[in-house]
Amino acid sequence: MNITASINGTSETFTVRADTTLMDVLREELHLLGTKEGCREGECGACTVLIDGKPVDSCIYPAAAVQGRNVETIEGMVDLLAEQVKSAMVEFGGVQCGYCTPGIVLSLTALLRRFPEADEALVRESLAGNLCRCTGYSQIVDAALAAAEANRGRP
Ligand code: FES
Ligand code: FES
Repeated sequence: MNITASINGTSETFTVRADTTLMDVLREELHLLGTKEGCREGECGACTVLIDGKPVDSCIYPAAAVQGRNVETIEGMVDLLAEQVKSAMVEFGGVQCGYCTPGIVLSLTALLRRFPEADEALVRESLAGNLCRCTGYSQIVDAALAAAEANRGRP
């Protein structure tokens, strides 16, 4: 079947089977390789993308279900808030091997769009689906809180 969706603001049409995952369309057809392939079981969050602003695991998300919807990948994360999140991740040491980083940037950006006043508990909750084997998370949480502050215009 043919599916049309907005991918990072551009209308794209692709052909899928019922069992085609969104991750495979993004990586193999659209060559958006920032969406990382990890467990393929919905456990690690490396493949996180936003659908209508909400984080999903694209490895278990049927591509057919994005018909008419708005998909954002790490390649589309260029608004000011996303840039603040990315900069803070680098500044606070939240990026080590980097494999989890695209998914984490998407989860944090989605959180701070909805909850600019997010506190540590909410940040940690938003990261529950994103596995990071390197950092121990505290640097990522610090980065998120710094990005939230920057986004609110408070140094
Ligand atoms: S690759 Fe999708 S959750 Fe791990
Ligand atoms: S930085 Fe390596 S898995 Fe997170």
